[in-house]
Amino acid sequence: MTMDASSRRAVLAAGAGTAIAGAAAGLTWASRPAAADGASGAGATAADDGIVAFRGAHQAGITTPAQDRLHFVALDVLTEDPEELRSLLTAWTRAAERMTYGAEAAPGGAVGGGPFQAPADTGEALDLTASHLTVTIGYGPSLFDGRFGLEGRRPEALRELPAFLGDDLDPARSGGDLCIQACADDPQVAVHAVRNLVRMGFGVVAVRWSQLGFGRTSSTSTAQVTPRNLFGFKDGTANLKAEDPAAVDEHVWVAPEDVPGGAAWMAGGSYLVARRIRMHVEIWDRTPLTEQEAIFGRDKKVGAPLGTTDEFAPIDFQRKGADGEPLIPMTSHVRLAHSSTLDGVKILRRGYNFTDGTDGQGHLDAGLFFIAFVRDAHRQFVPMQRSLARADVLNEYIEHTGSALFACPPGLADGQDWGTQLFA
Ligand code: HEM
Repeated sequence: MTMDASSRRAVLAAGAGTAIAGAAAGLTWASRPAAADGASGAGATAADDGIVAFRGAHQAGITTPAQDRLHFVALDVLTEDPEELRSLLTAWTRAAERMTYGAEAAPGGAVGGGPFQAPADTGEALDLTASHLTVTIGYGPSLFDGRFGLEGRRPEALRELPAFLGDDLDPARSGGDLCIQACADDPQVAVHAVRNLVRMGFGVVAVRWSQLGFGRTSSTSTAQVTPRNLFGFKDGTANLKAEDPAAVDEHVWVAPEDVPGGAAWMAGGSYLVARRIRMHVEIWDRTPLTEQEAIFGRDKKVGAPLGTTDEFAPIDFQRKGADGEPLIPMTSHVRLAHSSTLDGVKILRRGYNFTDGTDGQGHLDAGLFFIAFVRDAHRQFVPMQRSLARADVLNEYIEHTGSALFACPPGLADGQDWGTQLFA
């Protein structure tokens, strides 16, 4: 069942008339969809009404089947008052939860707050459905630098990523105290979510950088068809998938033993690595097909490992061609990123394509906004990226222009909010 176009208004009307506090999130039972209760937080609700459960053991937007669109924002905290930050996080929780089930950011919304005050919702999503919106929050290493008394709560693994060979990072597109990842099947719903959260944070936080993404470049569920990146190749074939919970537990969720002491709040969370990777599409588009396929180690049409015809065939790195050379070249992307060459390391990829206009020199500023979720970025992403940075032939066509690392806390239980979760 899909939410009808007037859902946001209907939810608002129901909420306005019923004063029972349905949750600490400030929702009313009348406005709270039944499907939002007791769901896992990982996927769409059973009836798939376009609503992804907001609460659960883990935050939504990680193993949730990747939606089509992304609005990602990194923010810096302006206030030095921990209490201001804590109450913003609490207010954000309420608004994010409301928006994920298709309601406006706050009661009163775009037009119900009276003519003499600025509306409590910006309004551009009024007639739109929930669109599988997920809002995922993350905290950068700098948030734990002592300004807010959080030093003792910093997880050991939340430390800046090292520099990698070939990095061309723009500080204005890197780092951040906080991040919000909004994914939805409708771009306007994702943008609306970020915009309203940023608006609520006026004076407390400021946008450091932001990225729009279209066309997911990964499947995170076996139920999804593998999408393509801007080089035209299927991307996400060998990704970790939600249907393999043992692998997800091993590689994505932070275990209690990873975060002893003050960092225990992070158990059940995951680290988000963001890399803005420019893809020089003009050079790629002049590269012969066989060379393109050798660079990835997979064929372009089906996405099958070279020498096979099935997209999901296991990759046999020993196999040699008629010339005696390995069918999957030693410097191919999939060989260098494969767990068998990295002591078993795997990551959950959840990136998006982007085009941000032109570079001013007659080229598209296009690429992959790479997002990965991992249990420990320094043990997983770092060795993998080192291996790629050193030898991947793909490097001739790409350039990493932005980078950030965030700790995404676990999901929220009923009555919990991001403020109390972080500050305890
Ligand atoms: C613009 C940059 C990139 C492009 C265009 C790209 C594209 C691809 C493609 C087409 C595949 C094969 C299909 C698949 O299994 O998903 C792949 C696989 C993979 N990529 Fe990338 N990728 C990029 C950057 C990265 C980065 C930065 C990392 C991590 C540091 C990474 C990690 C992986 C992994 C782990 C695999 C699966 C390898 C396997 O187990 O077979 N990729 N990528």
